[in-house]
Amino acid sequence: MDIKKIFENNKEWVQERLSAEPEYFKKLSQGQSPKILYIGCSDSRVSSEELMGVGPGDVFVHRNIANMVPNTDLNSMSVINYAVEHLEVEHVVVCGHYYCGGVKAAMQSSDLGLLNPWLRNIRDVYRIHKEELSLIEDEDERYKKFVELNVQEQCVNVIKTADVQKAIRKRNLSVHGWVFDIHSGKLIDLKIDFDAILENIMEIYRLDD
Ligand code: CO
Repeated sequence: MDIKKIFENNKEWVQERLSAEPEYFKKLSQGQSPKILYIGCSDSRVSSEELMGVGPGDVFVHRNIANMVPNTDLNSMSVINYAVEHLEVEHVVVCGHYYCGGVKAAMQSSDLGLLNPWLRNIRDVYRIHKEELSLIEDEDERYKKFVELNVQEQCVNVIKTADVQKAIRKRNLSVHGWVFDIHSGKLIDLKIDFDAILENIMEIYRLDD
């Protein structure tokens, strides 16, 4: 793609928006109050807003390699803090995707230099669920399940934070685990049973006000 084309596209987009709603950008400039925090993968094929059919102002978005929420990652922790404490979103979504290169890399033993510590967080997910994953003989199916379990563990990491625990107690914030299936274009709700998971982990991670 010609990089100059992007500015032509932008001009067209501004015109389209203004012809549909003359005050569009004026309204946008007045502030944001998204109801959803979306944490997804940086993969170029998973264009978050487009696959959800939402527009500017609808969703607060954070993307990184393999939709991770590492406990000491200041970037994702700051995004969660801002979205939950200040924007007061009602939903936090962790959205993974099948055929994720980051997850695939964590299934292999190559030394990828700077990427190693990031991928180690994904390897930790494999270790936690090793028993379940090793029972899946088909490699493709194991890869898919690993993507799903990674989403689940990142949701758990979201729930470990004090901000999210407080918002769940005080205003019923909900956490969701989704997967985007690149092969079909479908968005899948993993319907993670957080009550069961929470019962298991809150004894360890509970933080009181
Ligand atoms: Co990915």
